[in-house]
Amino acid sequence: AAAARQKQATLGDVLARAGAAYKAALKRSPRAVEYLKGRGLSGEVARQFGLGYAPEGWRGLASVFPEYDDPLLVESGLVIASEDEEGKRYDRFRDRIMFPIRNVKGEHIGFGGRVLGDEKPKYLNSPETPVFSKGRELYGLFEARTPLREHGYALVTEGYMDVVALAQLGFPNAVATLGTACTAEHVHKLFRFTDSVVFSFDGDAAGRRAARKALDAALPFANDTRSVKFLFLPAEHDPDSFIREFGAEAFSRFVNEATPLSRFLIESAREGCDLGSAEGRAHLSSNARPLWSALPDGALKQQLLAEIAGLVQLDMKALQDLWAASATPRR
Ligand code: CTP
Ligand code: MN
Ligand code: MN
Ligand code: MN
Ligand code: MN
Repeated sequence: AAAARQKQATLGDVLARAGAAYKAALKRSPRAVEYLKGRGLSGEVARQFGLGYAPEGWRGLASVFPEYDDPLLVESGLVIASEDEEGKRYDRFRDRIMFPIRNVKGEHIGFGGRVLGDEKPKYLNSPETPVFSKGRELYGLFEARTPLREHGYALVTEGYMDVVALAQLGFPNAVATLGTACTAEHVHKLFRFTDSVVFSFDGDAAGRRAARKALDAALPFANDTRSVKFLFLPAEHDPDSFIREFGAEAFSRFVNEATPLSRFLIESAREGCDLGSAEGRAHLSSNARPLWSALPDGALKQQLLAEIAGLVQLDMKALQDLWAASATPRR
């Protein structure tokens, strides 16, 4: 354990030094500064989130790290060792805007890097390392932890730029999943800081799928004292583009009108079901069962049972018995 802590300290130190170097490089790159300004970012919010720039060139970090060929640099994810026998080393992040990712203690654990143009891939993230796991970490949580208490709820978005734009325009209580689906671990971690979560994904098809996955992740945590809601932006918008185009008040209205988990659960279950037919109602029942079963016991769960029973046109007891029976494996 002591060795693991030591390793964490060393990797954290390497990542922090790289973060400082990327920050300094941003000041020296008018092109990168122009890119951020062009996207509406203030210098203040860029500083607050420690944004930086990874310069062009294959071994930019060699000027920062005399120990560039040390395996620790590869382990940190900053440097890639090529597969061939020479094992030549080169920077993972080149000519990208750099978003440092910090854990809740404020320690550097990884980076996201965005191209300044339309090249692919648009974003590159640190690989999984001993200190960085995408399924566990939320971008912006360190910066958001105090605002979360003041605002009383968390906004969960998909992207780095969403978090930064929301913070700049009056919603510092935003975090982002890191290019992965929202996991139960993400939700669990968030509920240590707040008892109210509003998922705010992009208005595109990917965003809708993300919301559906977030529902699955959130269900086990949706007890009677917590609030989970889903905000659906107009198609083609994400929180960043929406708030920049329509302003904070318009975004606020979407937050206030967000769909409660109970309604999203029902809507998801009845999607594609014709409630005018017995088959359609049966289909709804079968869609709803796994969602409903994932909820913790309580008043919310009972009310959803009543609501679903009404839609399926069975009484509550009959529906619950049916679900209990269909849950036991067939022989
Ligand atoms: N993402 C990623 N790798 C990609 C594309 C996306 O890791 N090739 C992650 C990033 O964390 C990104 C998030 O998924 O922020 C959402 O993707 P998308 O909506 O496509 O990007 P935006 O954040 O909206 O990017 P931008 O506004 O900078 O174009
Ligand atoms: Mn409360
Ligand atoms: Mn998207
Ligand atoms: Mn965007
Ligand atoms: Mn987006």
